[in-house]
Amino acid sequence: MTAKIISGNKIAEEMRAEMKIEIEQLKSKHNLVPGLAVVLVGENPASVVYVRNKKKSCEEIGINSYEHKLPADTSEEKLLALVDKLNADDSVHGILVQLPLPKQIDENKVLNKIIPTKDVDGFHPFNVGRMLVGDPIFLPCTPHGVQQMLIRSGVKVEGSHVVIVGRSNIVGKPVAAILVQKAKGADATVTICHSRTKNLPAVTQLGDILIAAIGVPEFVKADMVREGAVVIDVGVNRVEDKTNPKGFKLVGDVDFEAVKAKASAISPVPGGVGPMTITMLLHNTIRAAKLKHNIA
Ligand SMILES: NC(=O)c1ccc[n+]([C@@H]2O[C@H](COP(=O)([O-])OP(=O)(O)OC[C@H]3O[C@@H](n4cnc5c(N)ncnc54)[C@H](OP(=O)(O)O)[C@@H]3O)[C@@H](O)[C@H]2O)c1
Repeated sequence: MTAKIISGNKIAEEMRAEMKIEIEQLKSKHNLVPGLAVVLVGENPASVVYVRNKKKSCEEIGINSYEHKLPADTSEEKLLALVDKLNADDSVHGILVQLPLPKQIDENKVLNKIIPTKDVDGFHPFNVGRMLVGDPIFLPCTPHGVQQMLIRSGVKVEGSHVVIVGRSNIVGKPVAAILVQKAKGADATVTICHSRTKNLPAVTQLGDILIAAIGVPEFVKADMVREGAVVIDVGVNRVEDKTNPKGFKLVGDVDFEAVKAKASAISPVPGGVGPMTITMLLHNTIRAAKLKHNIA
C-alpha cells in the first residue's frame, strides 16, 4: 500500500483563500478589519521566524498585524502592562505572545493576563475549560489544525480509534479533548500514550488514526502502525544534514518513508501540520473580531 499524502500546505491554502473572501466581506459589509497583535520578547531565532511568518500570513489575507518587539531583558511587569494595553485596544481582536519567554518572566502569568476573548492561541485556562466541556470559544491552533486536516481530507473520525503519542498541554492533551467530543469531525475513541506507556507499539497499532506529537525524530516506525492507518505527524525536529547548505533538515516524529508503505494516508514534514497552525491562528483572529462585533 502506498499512502495518500495529506498535504497541510494544500489544505492551508484552501482555507486561507476562504478566509480572504470572508475578510473582504467583513470589510465591505461591516467596515471591520480583524487585527492581531503579536508580541515578541528577545531574539530567539526560531521565534523571530515564527513571528515573521505570522505577520506575512496576516497581511496576505487582509488581517491587520501589530508587532510588538521587546528586548530580552524586559521585566514581567512591563510585559503584563503591554498585555493590559492590548486587552483594552479595540483595533486588536487577537493577542499572541510568542513563547518561549525569557526566564525572568512567568509564562503562565502572562498567558493568563490575556482576556479570554482575545486569546487566539486558546491557551488561557478559561478557553481550555470551554474546549473540554465541548463549548469552545477558540480551539488551540495546532490541535485544531490536526482536526481540520482529518476532516478536509475525508478521513472519518467518528467512531474511529485515535491513538495519540504525546500528552503536552499544547498538542497531545488538546488533540484528545477535541477528538473525543460528541461532535462532527470528532466522536472518536481516544487513547493517549506517553513515555510511561507500557508496550507502546501494541497500543499504537490499535489506532485507526495515529497522531505523533513526541519531539523525537522518526520515532514512529512501521511496526508501530496498523496496516491502512491514517498517520498525522505533528513533530518538527532538526537533524544534521551535511548535504543541505543550512547543515540540517527538518523531519517529523514518524519514519515517513517506512510508514508511508503501510499507512493509507500520512501527513509529511515539512508541509503537514506546520502550515495548519498559522492557518488556525488566522481563523481564530477572524472569529475574535466577529465575536466582538456580534457577527454570526
Ligand atoms: N507543527 C506545529 O505547528 C507544532 C506545534 C507544536 C509542537 N510541534 C512539534 O510537536 C512535537 C511535540 O511537541 P510538544 O510540545 O507536544 O512536546 P513535549 O511537550 O516535549 O511533549 C512530548 C510528549 O511526548 C512524550 N514522549 C517523549 N518521548 C517518548 C517516548 N520515547 N515514548 C512515548 N512518549 C514519549 C512525552 O511523554 P511524557 O509526558 O511522559 O514526558 C510527552 O508527553 C515536537 O516535535 C514539536 O516541535 C509542532
